[in-house]
Amino acid sequence: MLIIAFESSCDETSVSVAEFEKTEKGCKRRILSLKTASQIPIHALYGGVVPEIASRAHVESISSLTHSAISESGYSPEDMDAVAVTNTPGLVGALLVAVNYAKAFALRYKKPLVPVNHIRGHIAAAYYEYEDLEAPFFALVASGGHTSMVEVKSPTEFITVARTRDDAAGEAFDKVARILGIPYPGGAALDELAYKGNPNAIRLPYASLSDSLDFSFSGIKTAVINYANTEKMCGRELNREDVAASFTNVAVESILRNIRRAHKEYGFETLVVSGGVAANNHLREKLSEFQREYNVRVCIPSKAFCGDNAAMIAAQGYYEYMSGARADSSLNAKATARLESNI
Ligand code: KG4
Ligand code: ZN
Repeated sequence: MLIIAFESSCDETSVSVAEFEKTEKGCKRRILSLKTASQIPIHALYGGVVPEIASRAHVESISSLTHSAISESGYSPEDMDAVAVTNTPGLVGALLVAVNYAKAFALRYKKPLVPVNHIRGHIAAAYYEYEDLEAPFFALVASGGHTSMVEVKSPTEFITVARTRDDAAGEAFDKVARILGIPYPGGAALDELAYKGNPNAIRLPYASLSDSLDFSFSGIKTAVINYANTEKMCGRELNREDVAASFTNVAVESILRNIRRAHKEYGFETLVVSGGVAANNHLREKLSEFQREYNVRVCIPSKAFCGDNAAMIAAQGYYEYMSGARADSSLNAKATARLESNI
């Protein structure tokens, strides 16, 4: 079956056409086209995503992205079997652009409309490159707005076992990057800079809660801010490389500590790691060590599929469609939603 998927929850407008074929073993999936317009250069001027500007930029690009995604797929709109769209969580004004576009598309071509939770989509990004990946498995989603660990019982059944108590992992990376003068979103640039510094140069606290698997990143971020202020007050120049390396070391190790503890508690055999922060090279290296030491299969999408994209929405949309999820023209956008429910 062919799915056209739309994503506009934050600062990427993305449209994809993907093909799914049920097989004896599970499902064969193929991305036929993926067109994404990033708004990062616009928001970088303001140091973060400006919701109003994001919505307008989605409106400006969604139509042309749709035309090129369909034309590159080699099919026509009439050939699509279902329309998948991210309707939650995210910026409501931004989400509404794809939701309304998808509703109009579904109405015009008389296709079923399937709502998709963005975080479920991030997890589903792994299905393309790990063809035999099948639930149940365990997942860590770390992005700019979310950080959670999830038991994926089936492709459409999720139980959140840990979440962040304060900042999301990506948010912490972006805020520390900002202190170092790196433009928004600084996560990827901080990742590179960290390779040039000494990870043990600055003593920073590990974020670990004794009574819970939840994450907490604001303490590490505050410690970096305090360190930077002290250096400034003492008239010393900040060693940006050492700050990047020390922060990355502690942030990544804090994530790994929680994964190890979760493994002890849940004994999972497969771990999917996704979301924008899954592109972090240091995290990826530590995860391959974890894979070896714990004999756990770690599935991380290639970097292009860690961040927001509509192909991941198509992948999850397929399972939502198969499980009977449908929406009508009353579908609305929701800023927040529990991963457990897809509406
Ligand atoms: O999943 P995503 O594209 O959007 C959300 O759903 O939030 O994640 C974006 C986040 C940003 O905070 C960005 O700085 C971070 O992922 N990110 C990284 C890296 N690449 C992107 N953080 C650390 N290291 C990276 N290499
Ligand atoms: Zn995302």
